Amino acid sequence: MSRIVYVNGAYKPYAQATIHVEDRGFQLSDAIYEVIEIRDGGLVDATRHLARLARSLAELSIPPPMSERALLQVMHTVIRRNRVRDGIVYMQVSRGAGPRDFALPPPTTPPTLVVLARAQRRGWSAELAETGIAVKTIPDNRWGRCDIKTVMLLPAVLAKDEARRAGAREAWFVDAEGGITEGASSNAWIVTGDGTLVTRQLDHHILPGVTRATVMDVAKREGFKIEQRTFNRDEAIKAREAFVTSATNIVMPVVKIDNAVIGDGRPGELTRQLRLRFHQVAEFSA
Ligand code: PDD
Repeated sequence: MSRIVYVNGAYKPYAQATIHVEDRGFQLSDAIYEVIEIRDGGLVDATRHLARLARSLAELSIPPPMSERALLQVMHTVIRRNRVRDGIVYMQVSRGAGPRDFALPPPTTPPTLVVLARAQRRGWSAELAETGIAVKTIPDNRWGRCDIKTVMLLPAVLAKDEARRAGAREAWFVDAEGGITEGASSNAWIVTGDGTLVTRQLDHHILPGVTRATVMDVAKREGFKIEQRTFNRDEAIKAREAFVTSATNIVMPVVKIDNAVIGDGRPGELTRQLRLRFHQVAEFSA
């Protein structure tokens, strides 16, 4: 549990860290967020996460709550004050509070900023990666700007629940043309028969994952072939390997899609290599 939380300028005990009842994030989902991996007490890929945060804010014309440098300092303070060695930082920025109104408030309205850190046992994802996970495909019913990391997560919450009830750990969203967009909280990848890594091209239908970008750096370093294009469920089921990427999972093998077994049903070799090399390539800031 996060014992100390940063909220709007103060470090508060968890139970006392509160926001206004008429916060626009709470009422209107008028807010964006980031999740960053903490490893050995430092941040993984902070530069890329802060760049995406800045982009999400700019796309929605929400003023930045503070400079990136100050934000980095707040994150490190929250990590230190909670004594987290391995886990995640969760950071949310909303367009602030005021009487409920669809109209945007004056641009001088101070944004709400919450930063918390949560410890997670280092081994959990490595243990899960030894066997891999199952995913369930579900029609993508999200809005048209999934490239912005907003807190409008209800479709993802419901999709993950549907997946869980079918014995899968993640949902893969499928667009109207049958293309896989991404996971409910991860990017989706396959490895074709000739060993090419395939992940959907960046467009308005997927989040530009930070882990996705760093996995591409790893793949380039290892000399793996990468194609950024749409793939569908049939191609995914016939793939040699499949996996998902996110700040919480890093690289997580997918061994089943809608009960169809991928490859030989065990995590694939390229997937294993990418996972193994990830932290050698990712940026680390203590
Ligand atoms: N989710 N796509 C979606 C829809 C996501 O919610 C996420 C991350 C990703 C992967 O992005 P990244 O590699 O930058 O974590 C892709 C976070 C982890 C979450 O909501 O908890």
